[in-house]
Amino acid sequence: MVTLLTERTELRAWRPSDRDAFAALNADPAVMEHFPSPLDRVQSDDFADRISSGLEKRGWGLWAMELPGRFEFVGFVGLNEPGFDVPVDLAETPPLEVGWRLGQAAWNQGLASEAALEVLRFAFAELGRREVVSFTTPGNDRSRRVMEKLGLHTDPRDDFDHPHMAELGHDRVTRHVLYRIGAAEHAAQEHDTARRQLRDHVGRFNLGVRSGDWSAMLRSLAPDAVFTAVGAAAGVLRVEGRDAIGVAYAADPPSDEIVVFDPVGDGDHGVVARWSDACRPERVLGDLCLHAGPAGITALAVTFD
Ligand SMILES: CC(C)(COP(=O)(O)OP(=O)(O)OC[C@H]1O[C@@H](n2cnc3c(N)ncnc32)[C@H](O)[C@@H]1OP(=O)(O)O)[C@@H](O)C(=O)NCCC(=O)NCCS
Repeated sequence: MVTLLTERTELRAWRPSDRDAFAALNADPAVMEHFPSPLDRVQSDDFADRISSGLEKRGWGLWAMELPGRFEFVGFVGLNEPGFDVPVDLAETPPLEVGWRLGQAAWNQGLASEAALEVLRFAFAELGRREVVSFTTPGNDRSRRVMEKLGLHTDPRDDFDHPHMAELGHDRVTRHVLYRIGAAEHAAQEHDTARRQLRDHVGRFNLGVRSGDWSAMLRSLAPDAVFTAVGAAAGVLRVEGRDAIGVAYAADPPSDEIVVFDPVGDGDHGVVARWSDACRPERVLGDLCLHAGPAGITALAVTFD
């Protein structure tokens, strides 16, 4: 079974010990405002059984979300194929839905968005899906905001009546808005993310040069990050692991701030840009290549022409 990791969250298999907290959030009227009603303990446990076994069976699904070192369980974020025909013209049938439900204590810290971004990557990169959708009632502004932050977009022509809600007479929550994102749109968005990561990295690197404090730059590296420098000035240098990179920077700290120019994506979430010293930007020195994953920057390669 797949586990997904982001900076602050872990999406993992369900544990029996999650059920108390899950029942508490399902019983909270604020959490369930956009559903027919809160769930009682039996309904909550039944729901946990279904999503947990779906996750075990497929290896992906609605993962239990943990905040390592803070909370063992705060809710779920993940993927689901709706158990009804969505009456909208979609790229795939059944569509793949991204969804979330967290206890109130975890709201408004960007956690659903952070985790769902990784879930989206998984859906396109690992499952090879052509489209991911999400839907909710028109009044669920929090959830709609998460959809927007993930880059999903809506069209009023895709609004629909949820057939199960209509059948059961839950008029208050029958109308739904649908958001979607296609694989090509997502790839373009990932490219923008890689560009931002490169710019952010340069900012943290320059902060280290100015202050001598490399902690912000090191924190953005994955524990198994690899740093390589190749070329005239450096020979060939390869340092493996965040801790070893920290030792190398402390022993021989770079002394010049740098600038990068027009990054170009090189696929696989990577980005490469020409770079130079900030004090002589007209003299381009080589390429800076960055790869990042859920745990942070995984590879940094500097080449000197
Ligand atoms: C929807 C939900 C998962 C969002 O989780 P979260 O971790 O708080 O989400 P994020 O912090 O990533 O983003 C929430 C966004 O909503 C915004 N928001 C919060 N309250 C809002 C409100 N009353 N109206 C409009 N936007 C609001 C936040 O400001 C934030 O946007 P921002 O980053 O642009 O400021 C959580 O509210 C929840 O579990 N709700 C109940 C269950 C639910 O409705 N699930 C979805 C069913 S489709």
